Amino acid sequence: MLILAIESSCDDTAAAVLEPESRIRSSVVSSQHEIHARFGGIVPELASRRHIEMIRPVVDEALAQAGIGLDDIDLIAATQGPGLVGSLLVGFTFAKAVALARGLPCVGVDHMAGHLLSCLLENPQPAFPYTALIVSGGTTSLFAVDDPLSFTRLGRTRDDAAGEAFDKVAKLLDLGYPGGPAISRLAAGGNPAAIAFPRSRLGADSLDFSFSGLKTAVAAHIDSQGRQCPPQAVADICASFQEAVVDVLVDKTLAAVERTGHRRVVLGGGVAANPRLRTVLAERCAQNDVALFMPAPALCTDNAAMIGLAGYYRFLGGHLAEADADAYSRSPLN
Ligand code: KG4
Repeated sequence: MLILAIESSCDDTAAAVLEPESRIRSSVVSSQHEIHARFGGIVPELASRRHIEMIRPVVDEALAQAGIGLDDIDLIAATQGPGLVGSLLVGFTFAKAVALARGLPCVGVDHMAGHLLSCLLENPQPAFPYTALIVSGGTTSLFAVDDPLSFTRLGRTRDDAAGEAFDKVAKLLDLGYPGGPAISRLAAGGNPAAIAFPRSRLGADSLDFSFSGLKTAVAAHIDSQGRQCPPQAVADICASFQEAVVDVLVDKTLAAVERTGHRRVVLGGGVAANPRLRTVLAERCAQNDVALFMPAPALCTDNAAMIGLAGYYRFLGGHLAEADADAYSRSPLN
């Protein structure tokens, strides 16, 4: 079976061709970062217009790289939500239209399910059940994953997502968009103990997150510096901010593992590309005898391969999308 998968939930137009049992034949991602960078964040109208321009070439490229044509496809999977509705509609409508014209089955996939299962696209794969931390520009949540269709949310952010906090702090420091990569690069030359930024725990038993207070503390610190920070001071702010985020993410993940009793942890989402998060989480999991599964950064950020895999399991479960199925902005999983 060959699956054509499409992802357009935010600012990346992506398509992939996948064989079940997790072989990725192709995975193409067209980023819109350059379009949105000068605005310091994503402009939804520009995002959907760019998806319209790119959807056809990106799908054609994915098919070409896989060495196949549409005639060889058996199933179409596309992100149905959550995300920017104008962006989602481009990919999801495209998928439904191709499926209808070709007489192919089509499945709508929750973007969160893609992140929760992306670790199954790599070797070694985690066995079920496992605890997953999904941390991106729109999400910071912990889940218990019992099988490819059963996800229970354990906690989530009550305000900003961690990636959003990285992006907002980067904006305060004029580091461009998206801010995560720039902050983690500069943090490597900074002192993580230079500034004691707050860690929001929200109570001993809570698995929820909050990053808006941290962001405000960074803004207040920058203001107190007169906004003319020398390079070493910027590096120290980046390192201290990053350490505060990583501390909370890792502590809560280990607390979630204690609660679920799982011996496996999975990391996903764009912030999973953060080297400090990967290092600290790996150390703490090893100390606690918990196996950690971290997909390669290309599978952590938005991609269509993970949508194809999650779509395959939905197909096996009999969850086909009708032609009038609609995109949704909020995930029922989250
Ligand atoms: O999952 P993703 O590609 O897309 C959305 O959430 O839409 O995640 C993007 C987020 C952005 O907020 C970006 O700043 C963050 O992931 N990010 C990072 C790093 N690389 C990307 N955050 C921290 N450190 C990084 N190295």
